[in-house]
Formats: sequence, C-alpha cells, structure tokens
Amino acid sequence: MNKIIDLLKSHRSIRKFTDQSVSQDVINSCVAAGQAAATSSFIQACTVIQVNNSETRSSLAEWAGNQKYVDEAPIFLVFCADMNRHKLSCDMHDAEMLSGFTEQFITATVDCALFAQNVAIAAESEGLGVVYIGGIRNKIDKVSEVLNLPELSYPVFGMCIGFPDQDPEVKPRLPLEVVLKQDKYSDDQDTTRIAEYDKSIRAYYQSRTGGQKDMTWSEQISGMLQKEARPHMLSFLKSRGFLQK
Ligand SMILES: Cc1cc2nc3c(=O)[nH]c(=O)nc-3n(C[C@H](O)[C@H](O)[C@H](O)COP(=O)(O)O)c2cc1C
Repeated sequence: MNKIIDLLKSHRSIRKFTDQSVSQDVINSCVAAGQAAATSSFIQACTVIQVNNSETRSSLAEWAGNQKYVDEAPIFLVFCADMNRHKLSCDMHDAEMLSGFTEQFITATVDCALFAQNVAIAAESEGLGVVYIGGIRNKIDKVSEVLNLPELSYPVFGMCIGFPDQDPEVKPRLPLEVVLKQDKYSDDQDTTRIAEYDKSIRAYYQSRTGGQKDMTWSEQISGMLQKEARPHMLSFLKSRGFLQK
C-alpha cells in the first residue's frame, strides 16, 4: 500500500458541502490533472464546463431529479465528450471528417471518464469531496441547450466539488474474485460470492441509515434493471451526430 492507493480506497461520494469556497487555482489544477489522463489516439475529447451561473445551476439541479447538492456545491462541473474540436481541426486542413462511428463515441466517452476520474482524485487529494451526477442525462437535451453545446458533443455527467460537511462510511465493493479473473472468464462461484457480499451491503446500509434501509446489492441491481434506462439517449446521441454507424 502507499499513500495514493490509500487515498483511492478512502473514496466516498460527498453530497453535503460546507460554505467554504474552493479557489479557482485549485479547480484549474484539478482540471489540468484531468487533462494529464491517458487519451485514446491523443484525441483529447473531453471539455469541462464549470457552471457558475446560479439560474443555470438551479435548472441543472431540477433536471437531475431535484438533486439539491447540484445547486448547493461550491463547484459544479459538467464533463462533455466533445468531438467538435476534431471537426475544427479537419476544417483547418480542408479534410472531410468521417464522423458518427460508434468507435468514436466510445473513445470520446472513455476519454471523458478517465479525465473526470483524474479530476476527482486530484480534488480528493486536496481534501475536497466529490459526487458524480449522471442525473443530468435525465434532461440531456435541455442541459445541452443551456450549456450551448455544439454538434458532436454531449454532457456525459456532472460533478459536485466542495469541502465535505459529512463523513460517510466507505461503501464496500464486490469481492476481488468477482472482478478479477485469471486467464479466462468464469462466473462459477460468483452467485455465492455475491450472496456473501450482499450481507456486507445490507449491514452497510443499515448502519448508514440507522436501520431504515434494508437492501442488498443484488436486490438493488435487480430492481434497477427492471426499469427502462433513459430510453431517450439513443435518439438524442444520434441527433448530435453520434452513433450513426
Ligand atoms: C457516472 C456516475 C454518475 C453518478 N450519478 C450520481 C447522481 O446523479 N447522483 C448521486 O447522488 N450520485 C451519483 N453517482 C454516485 C454513485 O451513486 C456512487 O459513486 C456509488 O453509489 C458508490 O458510492 P461511493 O462513490 O460513495 O463509493 C454517480 C456515480 C457515477 C460514477
């Protein structure tokens, strides 16, 4: 173990922040740390929008399903997968850009996630807390409009950042054997392992909610997967020039 691994393993999402402001210098350095992430074929396909405008913030909080910390956090960033600058680069060289490939959607989205996770770790290393906000994809068309996002870009998720005003427990993760396989995939023992893990998640929720929440991981997942998952996404992404082929 080392200090970086310790920091990574102490992550927990923070949803309540103190009033203490976060300096722009710190945010700039966290975003620069994000830029340092590996990037597929050097495409650098992530754009971060820092949302300061209070009206926009309130709208984003509402569209994300009334997640009040989106409005309250000192800093709110939206991470966008962005291939607009690639179009500009092609235009600079009078080159026709072949866009719309699923592969490009994957690389831009992966770039964005790697960038964001670097930002999260950098922020946590500064004593800040973060929570990702996928909820902004509930109303992805409105979010894109209010942020003035161009074609070939889309908001992947947001992130609240600020000094923690809560100290939640670290959420236990699946046993390593479920996520790390040697040479070939095998799920032979995974049902048993998940059942065992369920016990620790039940205990975690009971302790976090003072006995209110009685739920296992597999129950949570099976409940979630009986519902549709933002079915508007495919047509929205197609309308932005992604996933054409
Ligand atoms: C892409 C992404 C989107 C998320 N969206 C939300 C969200 O909209 N609201 C929220 O409260 N938490 C959100 N989360 C946080 C997860 O619920 C949280 O990471 C997960 O339950 C594990 O808990 P932990 O981060 O405390 O370890 C999101 C996390 C990720 C990675």
